[in-house]
Amino acid sequence: MTHRILELYSGIGGMHCAWKDSGIPGTTVAAVDINTVANDVYKHNFPETNLLNRNIQSIKPEEIKKMNINIILMSPPCQPFTRNGKFLDKNDPRTNSFTYLLDILSQLDSVEYILMENVKGFECSAVRDLFLEKLQECEFVYQEFLVCPSTVGVPNSRLRYYCLARRNSTWNFKRRDEIMNRLPKDYDDPFMLSEIIEENVPERYLISDKLLKRANIFDICYKDSRRSCCFTKAYTHYVEGTGSVFTEASPETVDNCYKEANTHEVGSPDFVSTLKDLKLRFFTPKEVSQLMAFPKSYEFPKNISIKQCYRLLGNSVNIKVISELLKILVD
Ligand SMILES: C[S@@+](CC[C@H](N)C(=O)[O-])C[C@H]1O[C@@H](n2cnc3c(N)ncnc32)[C@H](O)[C@@H]1O
Repeated sequence: MTHRILELYSGIGGMHCAWKDSGIPGTTVAAVDINTVANDVYKHNFPETNLLNRNIQSIKPEEIKKMNINIILMSPPCQPFTRNGKFLDKNDPRTNSFTYLLDILSQLDSVEYILMENVKGFECSAVRDLFLEKLQECEFVYQEFLVCPSTVGVPNSRLRYYCLARRNSTWNFKRRDEIMNRLPKDYDDPFMLSEIIEENVPERYLISDKLLKRANIFDICYKDSRRSCCFTKAYTHYVEGTGSVFTEASPETVDNCYKEANTHEVGSPDFVSTLKDLKLRFFTPKEVSQLMAFPKSYEFPKNISIKQCYRLLGNSVNIKVISELLKILVD
């Protein structure tokens, strides 16, 4: 059977990539997003897909019915469920399009499968209660997960909430009432970063003196690391908690250099100039995309700035986790 997919909040097409990666036969009948920059990137990679530059709330149930889709893949805005977004939950207008979808779900008879992704924190929200209630009302069986890519062999942390839902089925995957913290299969350990590190990375990726002043809080990765921190949309803007940095130097060299730097006042010119020897740099957008398991062939169009690439990737999803979840959902 060839599935017919509706990709909502499609961004740069993480769900599209995950579907392809899963190897399950299917076509993305339509993708919908209001961000024109993200849409340019989506179009560049998937020119054949019907991409609608529309507010989801403007799409009437009749229009979706005509698409004859049987799967909805979606990652609604996460700001309502984050501390930075003030955790306004259902009082945040950015949840309106999602609650609109819940309102029309009962009319979308052809939909058999739903995969939804969001931030950790969604599971504590009132919107999650609404979502689960609506799934039950529409006779979906569901299973929730909180999973990190590092558990499926990808050296990046990005703990996210996922919900898999299937309608009218004998799906016996749902095994627990609680949220699952891992996938049922065993995976290899995360691969080494050397597999995705680019050569001859331009100097513009080196960390500026201004940011080096805060080098004591960097999360540093090496070629043989099998881990990296979650890359957020503020990567390179701020250093704290926005993603790891990289050096070709060995951990011993870094240790010694930091020891010497710390004999000076943290943030002082001497502190900064000592650390400059390490040539600490940001991961390039290509490297970040690989750490989010995007395919090697995935590209950003030339007119998209580096900052925009990081912003879009920070909003996107881990392909490998979703691909594995899709195999469980559509088994
Ligand atoms: C978390 S991101 C999704 C990222 C996407 N899965 C990807 O791989 O890039 C949420 C997306 O929802 C879009 N969005 C937010 N509200 C929307 C609405 N009412 N209608 C359509 N798109 C919306 C944003 O532009 C953003 O691209």
